[in-house]
Amino acid sequence: MKRVPEQIVSLKDVPGKTLPSFWKDDKYYVLDQLLLPENIKYIECLTPEDIADTIINMNLRGAPLIGAAGSAAVALFFKNSVPEESSFKDLLKMLVSTRPTAVNLQNVLEETMTLFNKNAGLPSEEIYSLFRNFSEFVHERDKERNFKMGENGAVFLQSLFNGKKLKILTHCNAGALATCGYGTALGVIRSLNRRNLIEHVWVDETRPYLQGARLTAFEMVSENIPHTVITDSTAAWLMHEKKIDAVITGADRVAMNGDLANKIGTYSLAVNAHHHGIPFLAAMPLETFDRNIPDGGSIVIEERSDEELLVFNGKRISPVTSKGLHLGFDVVPASLVAALITEKKVLKKSITKETVAGLFNE
Ligand code: MRU
Repeated sequence: MKRVPEQIVSLKDVPGKTLPSFWKDDKYYVLDQLLLPENIKYIECLTPEDIADTIINMNLRGAPLIGAAGSAAVALFFKNSVPEESSFKDLLKMLVSTRPTAVNLQNVLEETMTLFNKNAGLPSEEIYSLFRNFSEFVHERDKERNFKMGENGAVFLQSLFNGKKLKILTHCNAGALATCGYGTALGVIRSLNRRNLIEHVWVDETRPYLQGARLTAFEMVSENIPHTVITDSTAAWLMHEKKIDAVITGADRVAMNGDLANKIGTYSLAVNAHHHGIPFLAAMPLETFDRNIPDGGSIVIEERSDEELLVFNGKRISPVTSKGLHLGFDVVPASLVAALITEKKVLKKSITKETVAGLFNE
């Protein structure tokens, strides 16, 4: 396990509210999501390696937020080093390896490479300020995209269900904490709630990191949205009991035929939803599409240490000789997806490579 930076500041230093990360005085602060909901503490990042460590250790997580943090890592790199192409390329390689499934990081880093190529001749201080501004822009852009996505999803669901109040199930945390604000799947739930269209939110606990039980529940409490945390294995039975109208998740990488990777357990939700005739929807910005892969078969699934599964709260829960398999993600085929909600438009069933390509060509 890599080193976690030790400098921690408390919420009193934070302008306003619980942001998952922010820039202040040329330092990047990362909310330590491993401590939520009990403690709100920020990790002060002074170098790209500090940020990379927070990604590897899951202090900061969620595909769009990881992408935004990548832009901050690049800015800090240019604050501390002479802009030189080969070391910049090494940095990008190191950053992209921190979490291999979420494609937002790769996509944002490609944007930084383009920016670098266009401005390579500038003096060091100007390069830093260019990338610092770009990083702030990436954070703002993500918030705006999420708000649009939330509104698009809410309008779509309002019409799909003729304005009925909805019982929604969500998995993992695809909220403000997984993004730069508002969230993707939780953005849709927020926008539905603003229209008084939420009856209840079922929150999958999401083993083993408990992003649902800790983070999504934290967001639901802060928005006053009625919700109940369930074990992941409860979902199918609630579908059978007609207690779920729709399932909404985020995504970490979408292939060009609409197959999507998301937190492990999403595939079984989609299969169960299909069996029960319940729409399975996923919300993501266009940045989450991987334009280089034709289908989900090419998505690299992150495998994490089995310690994260076999040890709970510092205590080993399986025999010491047992091995565990901890896959971070699974892939839902497009055939099981009722709609992909983006900031641009909602792609409805049947999703094909032509309709996905249309998102980029229109
Ligand atoms: O392992 P995590 O916590 O980074 O996984 C997060 C998810 O699976 C989210 O659903 C996904 O990143 C979309 S977030 C808006």
